[in-house]
Amino acid sequence: MREENAWKRRGFGFVFVGCVAAVVPACGSEPERTPTWYRDIQPLVDRSCAACHDGSGVGRVNLRDAATARALAGTMAARVESGEMPPPALDPSCRPYAGAEKMYLGPDDRARFRAWADAGAPLGDPSEATTKPGAVAHIDDPDLVLEMPEAHEVTPDDDGNEYWCVVLDNPLATPAWIQAIEAVPGDPLVVHHIGLYRDAGHDAGAGYGVPPGTKGFSCRDPVLELDWQLLHAFAPGVGVMELPKDTGIRLDPGEQIVIQMHYYAPKSGALDRSAYRMRLATEAPAAEVFMDVFGPVPFTIPAGASQHVERSVITNEGPKATIYGLLPHMHLLGRSYDAWIEDDAGANACVARGDFDFHHQALYMFDEPIPWQPGQRFVTECTWDNSATGKGQTHFPPLDIAWGEGTNQEMCFMVAYLSRP
Ligand code: HEC
Repeated sequence: MREENAWKRRGFGFVFVGCVAAVVPACGSEPERTPTWYRDIQPLVDRSCAACHDGSGVGRVNLRDAATARALAGTMAARVESGEMPPPALDPSCRPYAGAEKMYLGPDDRARFRAWADAGAPLGDPSEATTKPGAVAHIDDPDLVLEMPEAHEVTPDDDGNEYWCVVLDNPLATPAWIQAIEAVPGDPLVVHHIGLYRDAGHDAGAGYGVPPGTKGFSCRDPVLELDWQLLHAFAPGVGVMELPKDTGIRLDPGEQIVIQMHYYAPKSGALDRSAYRMRLATEAPAAEVFMDVFGPVPFTIPAGASQHVERSVITNEGPKATIYGLLPHMHLLGRSYDAWIEDDAGANACVARGDFDFHHQALYMFDEPIPWQPGQRFVTECTWDNSATGKGQTHFPPLDIAWGEGTNQEMCFMVAYLSRP
């Protein structure tokens, strides 16, 4: 039995075993008190919304401000109920990961936003306020800082998006291994997400048709360069990524390292100079971590299909591998993903499951690395909505959509951090 089903069974059991007054009125539990701002909602906002909604982040509106939050209480409840806010993240009941408590809002917390709005968004008693946004950890003593050489003037398209790539100077004289890495957005108000890549072919820009040697170029379709290997992906709320002790991602002198900025801004003019900070080891670690991708290729998503599923099954033909984290990657029509490891002996481990949003892609580092034993199968499933009313639809009427790297095509990849002995 797949772990997903086991999880559903547990959830199901909870309804009957636990005392949920709304479901089992006679069970005697107290009905939940009306939520108030200070006691119930502000702590949730500080935890799960403030990374983008403190007034200086991409969410723009300052939901930490009680008056703003009260005025938007109904909108907040609606956005939270629809699953749009906070933007979809990996479901930690599948597998715990760093920062899960901030990125993922469970059903009870979602219901709290609605109950608060329906009760007229009461403030409650200020003395019951409990939290402040947690201090964010940074790499204070970086061994390497890779920064955009100059500020870029953000020039969004009509929808407010701009994709801008910069080849960063690589000052390394000897090989080094990343142990911790952190993105530092220059202007958090406009930085929607950041990708850091290595260009294995040393020809960054070629896929976008720019002359060799160009440092900064527009790069709207995410990976038109198939030889780019992802090193890190940032979205607001993603903090320092630490790799387990005795592991590291190798960087070599002379390698081309490219930062891909996705800006989201209502108008031109913001100046952004983002950077990456890293802690490095100079000795080779016991296990070198590299990126590998899992997912089906090629495929076609029929026009009009509202729930099209593709699946890939990859058997580990080599020695035992270890998976540390991953980035689920689809394009605009992507709705959800599910990945697990199984074998004939009954092993079944949920790897990643969640709703997908193209505009909020992040790399998730697991609390415990996942062993992938010889002979075990890594299964990846993606679901797309290619109907006329699908959220990411750009063709009216819808067209058949083929696999491909352009944003008008689709992909389904689990981009995983992995090591092999
Ligand atoms: C990773 C960043 C991020 C996080 C975390 C986040 N939001 Fe947002 N939010 C956005 C962005 C970007 C927008 C503007 C684009 C849009 O409307 O979808 C937005 C818009 C909104 C809006 C609409 C505001 C308006 O102008 O009408 C509401 C309401 C909202 N978010 C509520 C929340 C709540 C509640 C949480 C936490 C439970 C949350 N968001 C967490 C990024 C985020």
